[in-house]
Amino acid sequence: MSTAQSSVSASSSTSRSTSSPRVAVVGATGAVGQEFLDVLAQRNFPMSEVRLLASARSAGKSVEFAGKTHTIRELTEESFKGIDLALFSAGGSISKKFAPIASQAGATVVDNSSAFRMTPGIPLVVPEVNPGDLKGIELGKGGIVANPNCSTIIALVAVTPLHRAAGVKRMVVSTYQAASGAGYAAMMELEQQSHEVLRGQAPTCKIFKQQYAFNLFSHNSSMLENGYNEEEMKLVKETHKMWGDATVKIAATCVRVPVMRAHAESITLTLGKALGEDEAREILAKAPGVSIIDDRAHNRFPTPIDASGKDDVYVGRIRQDISQDDGRGLSLFVCGDQLRKGAALNAVQIAELLLK
Ligand SMILES: NC(=O)c1ccc[n+]([C@@H]2O[C@H](COP(=O)([O-])OP(=O)(O)OC[C@H]3O[C@@H](n4cnc5c(N)ncnc54)[C@H](OP(=O)(O)O)[C@@H]3O)[C@@H](O)[C@H]2O)c1
Repeated sequence: MSTAQSSVSASSSTSRSTSSPRVAVVGATGAVGQEFLDVLAQRNFPMSEVRLLASARSAGKSVEFAGKTHTIRELTEESFKGIDLALFSAGGSISKKFAPIASQAGATVVDNSSAFRMTPGIPLVVPEVNPGDLKGIELGKGGIVANPNCSTIIALVAVTPLHRAAGVKRMVVSTYQAASGAGYAAMMELEQQSHEVLRGQAPTCKIFKQQYAFNLFSHNSSMLENGYNEEEMKLVKETHKMWGDATVKIAATCVRVPVMRAHAESITLTLGKALGEDEAREILAKAPGVSIIDDRAHNRFPTPIDASGKDDVYVGRIRQDISQDDGRGLSLFVCGDQLRKGAALNAVQIAELLLK
């Protein structure tokens, strides 16, 4: 019997627990999956069992979690029997197939993929933004909750407090997105290419179709007919869904930069009413999940390295947008760890809201 299986013994009955749920992590060997394990352990998330699932390639591998060795099991249709909470991060096609199976088996699914984000009736949630949308979801009673796209989460943790204060009418976002957003293999490719380029060799391009080290390029998601890529349109549509307002004008340019971990975003807002930069700074200083690094005297503002491995979204360069002369324009620069707040942490925070 594997250690993971043996941990079932404490809760081998089929009765559901909403205070100490039985948890499955789907995609446990991936970049987000590994972060799930760190976040669950660091936050002492109460669990009576944890089941770590991945593909057949990883089945049988050992993983350390919360001071114990667990064995990875292959994801199958039988994987969710007795599970109360299933945290999915194994890609959209796996979610499309297995999230409904998990939900049918009684597990409440929190899904990191894009599979269900825009599905009507499926809540798309950032706890700091729209926790009320979880109404009606109960742990152990099935149902799917979608975790938004990482760039959307990071932007909205910073912008929603300003939206509440002064009503965002228009938002223009430019992203600087790290390798970790594309998974482990992309992080390894950036590392390998960096060595190759420094040695004067041609870079190996497998995950991305062009040189990534010492370069940057338009986000690698599919291009759409309107000239935007999928990543850019996720920011538009997901913001509209979470704010419950499709009239806000949003445009994004998403760029992959050779940073290992944590995304950065330049954001310019047009607000419904004038909001001074000092007032904006005060609002952000009190906002949950936000830390400010905004030291003009020392030219010290948020960096991806500041944000790496951290829970908060870091905000700086808080300034009046001088191209809008009615006081309603505001610009910010934000950094957030997209494996944590942009993925695993946000999903675990959703699960925490469901604990009773
Ligand atoms: N990276 C991010 O910042 C981020 C942010 C938000 C959302 N997401 C989403 O989270 C998901 C995973 O992303 P990632 O970056 O963690 O990718 P990753 O590092 O490539 O990990 C993928 C995971 O999925 C598992 N998997 C692949 N095929 C499978 C199958 N047939 N059956 C069961 N498990 C399978 C892999 O298991 P094996 O090791 O066995 O192959 C691995 O555990 C994606 O949907 C992504 O869009 C990622």
